[in-house]
Parts: sequence; C-alpha cells; structure tokens
Amino acid sequence: MNVGIYGASGYVGGELLRLLLQHPKVTVSAVTSNTYAGEYVFRVHPNLRGETNLKFEKPDISSLTDKCDIIFLSTPHGVSSTIVPEIYDSGVKIIDMSADFRLKNADDYPKWYGWSHRSPELLEKAVYGLPELHRDDIRRANLVACPGCMAASAILALAPIIQTGKVEKNHIIVDTKVGSSGAGSKPTLSSHHSEHYSVVRPYKPVGHRHTAEIEQELSAIIKDEVKISLSAHSVNMVRGILATCHVFLTEPINPVDVWRIYRGSYGDEPFIRLVRDRRGVFRYPDPKIVTGTNYCDIGFEVDRNTNRLVVLSAIDNLMKGAAGTAVQDMNLMLGFDESEGLKGIGLHPV
Ligand SMILES: NC(=O)c1ccc[n+]([C@@H]2O[C@H](COP(=O)([O-])OP(=O)(O)OC[C@H]3O[C@@H](n4cnc5c(N)ncnc54)[C@H](OP(=O)(O)O)[C@@H]3O)[C@@H](O)[C@H]2O)c1
Repeated sequence: MNVGIYGASGYVGGELLRLLLQHPKVTVSAVTSNTYAGEYVFRVHPNLRGETNLKFEKPDISSLTDKCDIIFLSTPHGVSSTIVPEIYDSGVKIIDMSADFRLKNADDYPKWYGWSHRSPELLEKAVYGLPELHRDDIRRANLVACPGCMAASAILALAPIIQTGKVEKNHIIVDTKVGSSGAGSKPTLSSHHSEHYSVVRPYKPVGHRHTAEIEQELSAIIKDEVKISLSAHSVNMVRGILATCHVFLTEPINPVDVWRIYRGSYGDEPFIRLVRDRRGVFRYPDPKIVTGTNYCDIGFEVDRNTNRLVVLSAIDNLMKGAAGTAVQDMNLMLGFDESEGLKGIGLHPV
C-alpha cells in the first residue's frame, strides 16, 4: 500500500514518517511541504538520515491521490476541511491529524475554533479515530479524525469509570501537563528557550479546545451530557502528557473494583497498560516511561476522604497522542494487524 503525508515537515509529520518508513506493509510515496519543497526529508527530520532519500514536494492533491492509497493530513486546524472533500471524492482513504473532523456538530466549530466548517456534510462520515472506543467503525471508515493529544489521554483515562454511570458527570476535572512539542514546530516567543526552560506554565486554565471532543466522546458512552473542567499546563519536557483526572463518585468504591472496571475495559488492549505498583520509583504512570512508544499507561488512586477517584494517564503526545494512534487507525483501515509497526519498546533511562 502506498501512503502519503500532506504537511510532512512538522512534528507530527516527522513522527508519522519515522513509523511509516519502518512499517513492513506500506511504502511512503509522497510527502508535502510548502516551505521545504525540493529538500531532502532528512534535512528537516535529521533522525531519518540514511533511512530515506525522499524529498518534499509542493502540495498537489491530484498528484497525491494518483500515488497513494491512503493520505495522512498533518496540517494546522482549518486547513484539511478545505481539501478533504477532493481527496474523499477520489476514493483515497484519509486520516486527518487536525481537529477539522473530530467534532460531530458543525456548530461546535465557531464556538471552539472560531470558524465555520467548510465541509459540514463530511462530519457525519468521519469516525473519531480512537481504536479503544471505535475499532469497528474505524475498520470501515474512509475518513478518520485522529484525536487531539490531550483528549486522547483524558478520554482513555475516563471512559471506563464513566461507563459505570457512578460518577458526578458534571464535576470531572482534568489537569494536564504537556511537553513543548505539543505546540508544533513553529517557534513563538513563548516557546523560545529562555522563556520555556523550567516552566510549569498554566497556558489554558479554562476553555481549552480539546474540552469539546472529550465531552463529545464521554457523553456518547453514557448517552447523556458529560461536562469536563480541563486545565492545561505546559511543562519542561519535549514529549509527553500526564493527565490527572479527578472524578467524584456517587457511591464509595474500593481499589479492587476500580481494577476490575479498568481490566474489563482494557484487558485485551495492545497499547494500554495499567500501572499501580506498591514499590519503586515509577509506581504511577509517567510520560518519561512511554516516550517514543504507543503506550497509554493508566493508573489510579482512591481518595476515601472526598469520595474521589484520581485517574492518571501518561502518553507520548506525538505517539499515542498523534502518529502512533494514526498508524493504529491505518492498520485497522487497511486490514493489517493493529499493532504492525508499533511494537517498539521504550527507552530507560531517557
Ligand atoms: N504536536 C502534537 O503533539 C499533536 C498531537 C496531536 C495532533 N496534532 C495536530 O496535528 C497537526 C500537525 O501538528 P504539528 O505539531 O505537526 O504542527 P507543525 O509542527 O506546526 O506542522 C504543521 C505542518 O503543516 C504544514 N502547513 C502549515 N500551514 C499549512 C497550510 N496552510 N497549508 C498546507 N500545509 C500547511 C507545515 O508545513 P509547511 O509550512 O512546510 O508547508 C507543517 O508541515 C495539527 O493540526 C495539530 O493540532 C498535534
């Protein structure tokens, strides 16, 4: 199968390339960039030196659809909704890394993203690309919207406990710590080394856009409205997200029951590990340990004092939070083993 990446010069594009170039069942046939057209890929993604002689080409949809069976779109939000209709009509499968097809309700785009959707008719055709929730739909989809990185970590942490129906559904707090690559490769003053080094910066205490997709996906599980209070912090990591989720329960729960609930949901999942140990440094999920892998590590603790369940989840934002999940989606869409090309073990120490 031939794959292409539209917007391949960014961080997600680079991570997709790292995975796809090693994937045994696909060939990367085309990668696009406006800024670097004509340049070797390894000049922008130096980790790929010696792995490929591909060059970036100027974005051209008909050239891409001629060469590819599936196309990843790895552009900022607002771009893919202008080009997806043409690709969709060609019959080539699409995995969009941006937010443009994640939300089902077109009215949510002006509210959360500040623009009106250019192809709202495709929203109902798009499948939210979180395999743990929508595996069968992804298998049948021609258009998959890969989840936002923070959204993926929060939804995976919360879905099993939400499903029990025993939570205060309007009183759920998600506190995230995110590494700098989560903001993409385009430099700004706030990403400048002197301004970002050592920070624990609350950059979106309220109103983060990923709230919309977290609420959408969790509400769909119980067919009732779930409200999420999300606060995001940028911290001194390059990769990684830790989501600390506070859930207030409608009746007391003990740790054995929580284990049972999470094992029941995720026991057979290839990329979810339950982490809660009595000894050692890494007793709970830690982004450091999943760096470069497609794992989402999930752990928890019960606070009997306030009848609160704290669920922690750690992912690499560029892997399970982006390219790793996208390749998992691709494997499902193309009928490959779901874990193909994603089995690498993480580094320690890193
Ligand atoms: N970073 C993460 O952790 C993460 C996680 C999950 C999802 N995402 C989503 O994935 C997408 C890419 O993120 P990123 O972090 O890779 O961003 P990035 O590093 O800024 O890369 C953006 C890419 O899009 C291209 N591009 C920018 N404007 C364009 C336009 N108007 N038309 C065509 N191409 C354009 C850029 O290439 P040229 O300028 O060279 O053309 C570049 O290749 C975003 O929608 C982001 O929200 C990111």
